[in-house]
Amino acid sequence: MAAQTVSRRSALKAAALVAAWSASPLRAAARAADAAQVSSKIEALIAAMTLDEKAGQLTLMPSAWGGSKAAGLNPPGNGQSFESQIENAVAGKLTGVFNGNGAVMAQRMQRAVMERSRLKIPLIFAADVIHGHRTIFPIPVGEAASFEPELAERTARAAAFEAAGAGIDWTFAPMVDIARDQRWGRVMEGAGEDVLIGRAFAAARVRGFQGHRLTDDDAMLACAKHFAAYGAAEAGLDYNTVDLSERTLREVYLPPFKAAFDAGAVSTMASFNEISGVPSTANHWLLTELLRNEWGFKGLVVSDYTGDEELILHGVARDGRDAARLAILAGTDMSMASNLYALHLPDLVRAGEVPLERVDEAVRRTLTIKSMLGLFDDPFRRIDPNREKYRSRRPAALALAREAGWKSIVMLKNEGDILPLAKSAKVAVIGPFAAGQHDLIGGWCVYGDDEQAIDLATGMRNAGGQITVTQGSGIEEPLEGGVEAAVAAARNAEVVVLSLGESQDMSGEAQSRVDIVVPPPQQALAEAVAAVGKPTVVVLRNGRALALAGAVRDAPAILVTWYLGSESGNAIADILYGKRSPSARLPISFPYASGQEPYYYDRKTTGRPQPAGERADYKAQFRTVPNAALFPFGHGLTYGKIGYGDFAAGDGKLAWDGALEVSALVVNSGKRAVDEVVQLYVHDKVASVTRPVRQLVAFRKVALAPGASQRVRFTIRRDALEFYGLADKPTVEPGEFKVWIAPSAQHDGASGSITLVR
Ligand code: BGC
Repeated sequence: MAAQTVSRRSALKAAALVAAWSASPLRAAARAADAAQVSSKIEALIAAMTLDEKAGQLTLMPSAWGGSKAAGLNPPGNGQSFESQIENAVAGKLTGVFNGNGAVMAQRMQRAVMERSRLKIPLIFAADVIHGHRTIFPIPVGEAASFEPELAERTARAAAFEAAGAGIDWTFAPMVDIARDQRWGRVMEGAGEDVLIGRAFAAARVRGFQGHRLTDDDAMLACAKHFAAYGAAEAGLDYNTVDLSERTLREVYLPPFKAAFDAGAVSTMASFNEISGVPSTANHWLLTELLRNEWGFKGLVVSDYTGDEELILHGVARDGRDAARLAILAGTDMSMASNLYALHLPDLVRAGEVPLERVDEAVRRTLTIKSMLGLFDDPFRRIDPNREKYRSRRPAALALAREAGWKSIVMLKNEGDILPLAKSAKVAVIGPFAAGQHDLIGGWCVYGDDEQAIDLATGMRNAGGQITVTQGSGIEEPLEGGVEAAVAAARNAEVVVLSLGESQDMSGEAQSRVDIVVPPPQQALAEAVAAVGKPTVVVLRNGRALALAGAVRDAPAILVTWYLGSESGNAIADILYGKRSPSARLPISFPYASGQEPYYYDRKTTGRPQPAGERADYKAQFRTVPNAALFPFGHGLTYGKIGYGDFAAGDGKLAWDGALEVSALVVNSGKRAVDEVVQLYVHDKVASVTRPVRQLVAFRKVALAPGASQRVRFTIRRDALEFYGLADKPTVEPGEFKVWIAPSAQHDGASGSITLVR
């Protein structure tokens, strides 16, 4: 194949890519001169590469020597042996592998490539490091409940320290898909239903993974996924059709991606789904017109796992060759797992069906990413088996997992202040999650291990609690004699802790549910135990919001504990026994019933909103449940007694280019020090486009000592009131806005009105 000359235009493009990265606030130190030098190296490589080598640079495969659970998550690369995968890499047919087996695996592959390949282009090693590597942190939706993005930044930093120590350059995280249908299993992987929370956690996680400098040996490249609107699948059925207005796409689903890119993420993954008839992997409008031309994204787009090949089953590609053509032309730079680019790109270019410039552009982006990660300077910078061991599960990381754990626990109810428990109380811990090394770390842990996590019973014993343990039921099947044993245990105890919910593989990829309930055998167990009449605390384990019913819903105290990771049981015990006061808030609404899904707090009023009080006909409501959440977004109690009042907004006038302070007095009249998450919501009373009943525009965690009160202040500017207008661009309209400073999306809190004046 003919060698290419280095054109000035292409060199400038690579320089611009590096410079754009350097110009991001975190990368200010990288200099333009370096960028130009790097780009000319990259151009020289592109000029030296054959078409086959270029296609290989765009081909990422699952590691044939997968780490821990990798083989279960994704089948290893096309049935290849590790040895043949190494030979493929040496032959230039691979850009790298993902979900491999740590530093030893990476070392063997990288060494072979650096010693034996023609161009010695280092491999890149990727992995799904979603919520921790060896030390596992709460599932992302749980961590979002902390309403503390800085915490997510710290756990992502700790995950990068371990994972980069194990040879991983690139994480397929953060998952920034907004999730508004709790039937969808991948709710667990994101930051929930709200756009502001989604943006804040997306940016925080990118900062955490990428650290100070991408070249550091404890930094990983972040990949914001899945671009885009993957969470809007019809019926919450994973991979299903998405049909959205451009307004909703831009207002709800895209902002967390923009936030991730603004925070420095230079890779993104095309989603499996279609949007209004066009699968993302083949969506030129999405991947090129919007992402690149409108947003100026300079990074790399990787397909999802066989996402290009799936264009055939979507019915938009005739065969693998056609699928590769559509994907690369749309803007998918790198192909994951299908091998279609390696198989077909050279021929597509030779046949004139794909311009060589397009392939070069994708190769340039790939090589630039490798260069940003410092791989050309030192291909082994993250690969060191000793460092892998040393960095794994350090005490500081485990302490952070515990902190993230208790900060993620949401207390939904605490009637009669039955929590916290006295350590002297005789507690019957009942339920399938009471004890045992299972369902602790949650889904999407390639390298974590339930065996190394602390279960609930151990955590309660560690805290000095007096407990008995009775399983009572299986997760989805009854246990013979289980209910009887549980009832007997409850009778002999002073308090019951009922540990119920979903197994960790009931959520995650491809795990959609039609009924988002506590499985029936566990519900039956709860009913029988409730009949004993002892004070009962329900401790839920869950990867999504659940529709709680009967004895579970009616228990005096309920904790939402997700899957908290390595320190699960200790973190729950911290809350149960009052070492810590709960401070987390629901990032997803808990509906009354499954049939309300998709349900989210910032819905529209409709022309016939449900009136307060008795059910009235011809209103937007179900026959049996209110058009509301049982436990709304933002809800979560503390061990204090919190009141909101005395709303103030100055003269209530927000000048067009000005700022207006709104505030409320928040009082803790309880006996415990707490952290209260104070939330600011607005509603645009009249606009040219219908606006949500409420929208979160700011939040703040405030420490309140017993008896303390604090005036909590927020500053509102015009941009908080923006929406995607009739003219298909962001707009703000003057007028009156209702404002709430409140403890949840359904609480009145302290409220008033402001007027935006032009
Ligand atoms: C998932 C991605 C993941 C990839 C690689 C796919 O099935 O959708 O989120 O990064 O596999 O493991």
